[in-house]
Amino acid sequence: MRKYLFLTVLAGAALFAACNRPVPVAQDGTDLWLAAGRPYSEVLASVQADIDPALPAEAFHIYDADGQRHVAAGSEAGLRYGVYALQRAEVLGQAGPGMDVQEQPYYDLRLLNHWDNLDDTVERGYAGESMWEWTSPAIPEARIRHYGELCASVGLNGAVLNNVNSNPLILDAEHIARVAKIADILREYGIKTYLSIKWTSPISLSGLKSGDPLDPKVRKWWKDKAAEIYAAIPDFGGFLVKANSEGQAGPQDYGRTHADGANMLGEAVAPYGGIVMWRAFVYSPTSPDRANQAVEEFLPLDGKFADNVIVQIKNGPVDFQPREPFSPLFGKLKDTKMMIECQVTQEYLGFSNHLAYLGTMWEECLQSDTYRDGPDTPVYKTISAIAGVANTGQDPNFCGYVFAQANWYAFGRLAWNPALSAEQIADEWIHQTFLKPDGMTDKAFESKFVEPVLDILMKSREAVVNYEMPVGLHHLFGGTHYGPAPWDRLGRPDWTPAYYHKADSAGIGFDRTREGSDNVDQYNEPLASTFNDLATCPENLILWFHHLPWDYRLSSGRTVWEEICLHYDTGIHQVEQFRRTWAGLKPYVAPALWEEANKKLEIQQHDGEWWRDANVGYFQQINGLPLPTDVRPLDTPIDSLIYRQVQSDRLGMPIHDENNRPVIVAPRFRRPMPPAAPAR
Ligand code: GCU
Repeated sequence: MRKYLFLTVLAGAALFAACNRPVPVAQDGTDLWLAAGRPYSEVLASVQADIDPALPAEAFHIYDADGQRHVAAGSEAGLRYGVYALQRAEVLGQAGPGMDVQEQPYYDLRLLNHWDNLDDTVERGYAGESMWEWTSPAIPEARIRHYGELCASVGLNGAVLNNVNSNPLILDAEHIARVAKIADILREYGIKTYLSIKWTSPISLSGLKSGDPLDPKVRKWWKDKAAEIYAAIPDFGGFLVKANSEGQAGPQDYGRTHADGANMLGEAVAPYGGIVMWRAFVYSPTSPDRANQAVEEFLPLDGKFADNVIVQIKNGPVDFQPREPFSPLFGKLKDTKMMIECQVTQEYLGFSNHLAYLGTMWEECLQSDTYRDGPDTPVYKTISAIAGVANTGQDPNFCGYVFAQANWYAFGRLAWNPALSAEQIADEWIHQTFLKPDGMTDKAFESKFVEPVLDILMKSREAVVNYEMPVGLHHLFGGTHYGPAPWDRLGRPDWTPAYYHKADSAGIGFDRTREGSDNVDQYNEPLASTFNDLATCPENLILWFHHLPWDYRLSSGRTVWEEICLHYDTGIHQVEQFRRTWAGLKPYVAPALWEEANKKLEIQQHDGEWWRDANVGYFQQINGLPLPTDVRPLDTPIDSLIYRQVQSDRLGMPIHDENNRPVIVAPRFRRPMPPAAPAR
């Protein structure tokens, strides 16, 4: 009898547990971070909305009065930001009675830069072809509206539609008409439209003989072009320019300066209130240190740019690496308007295959003290605008998969308020993106789902640094910027990993100290001396600034070689942990989202192993040192990886086999490689 009672109780408990098991809510990732909130129209209808001309145009005030919730704003755009802020607050449980929140954006210009080409390919795009569908007769209106909502919900207010490596045809009549149609849609969401231009457009479109910015014919051409654009798009934002950079022509080809070029374009758009964003991403193949060049070219021009010109500077001095110090230009230019260029698309952090939340990376840069105006002059205070290279494409979820969406969200939130913490932003994003399973309490959702996912996000960028290029190593990439190629030393030197790691039998690292390229002195004191001195240089940048013997001991007591090996191993351990955590979260996530992210994590682990085997294996060939005993042995011998690369598809996406391992092949045109430096 007792036995039956016991079994009945057991069965009851099991039934109770089964009935109370959380049931994931179906979702496919196409709502991005607007998934969990009430629809915008519903939130708007639930408040008393007022335009208050006393408020700054993009500001909003959410408050309760007379038994009613109010959203007051300085303009229609501000109202939209306010309603989205309320929607977010509702999801986060911060919209209770008595709510009183007043905000305005830190920067006036908060832009996405789309590197989209007119043939619909996307440079460094990993989420399908161009979302603007340049080659299709119709404008993809529904997608553009969806994009507009997403941008507005985080406060972004500008979009450069085309690649910085621009096709001159973007400025022909047909494309201007098309851009005008896109601008008409984006305007409804408070987004201004901008275009990247090619310096030689007057030559290729109208047969002018020169592109000299001081030539009256050239100046007139740009003025006429500006008039034509503004006739079609009265609130056109202006131009983004890549000139005298990576083979693109520019004013220097005519013996003129960046300022001559930028000011000429500035003059053309000034009558209409337009701006010019002139990129500082410049470097020549002959310079001893690519990291020095932006300061060398732009510091002498400080104060010479027109009022409507902003110099656009990448966050780091080289090129969107997983970790770089901030660009020294931010601390040097005092009389020039500056904007930062962040890269939302993960060109160097595993494309849309690796989980790498970039909020932490941008926070690290924006919060870095430049000492430009004395202590407490972080990067975010030196700049007046912000741009992010978009990670959007035609994929229904815009970004490739769910975790890549977090970077678009984080960029937008930091553009609105650069002092927000990466952790807060990640927490917001999780709540807004993932729907709480049916039958799960808020408390359980927090501890069982939100906290573990937050933990993954917050560790993810450092994991990529660890398994790709730790301890200050950088640019160890092969051609597509996806996989490792530390052996590559042929071709233009500053495009090869060997230029950056400088590994030989004695040591590794780029000497940027006063004995080396003196890049350290492009930073203001006390940073210059901090970076210069081995004892004070942050160890996560040590091989960025110093060339060290393999047996140099770091603060851990381990040698440089041991630390390198340990970091690669740690990175893989971290991804393994992400996979275990994600496996445990399966009961709470819609199967479609879970499966997709699970596959990506598996790819990430295998890619991480490839990165470790290629780099550690290669450096070991050079230094002849054994692996430390406490790291795991390499999986793949270096002989089957060296001089090889991952196979890519038509759009440049790496191919993985049925086990989610990268398909590593010999390059089609195998170049003879010089022997690596001999081992000791
Ligand atoms: C990187 C990137 C290029 C891009 C360039 C730029 O080098 O690999 O694709 O054109 O940056 O920012 O101009």
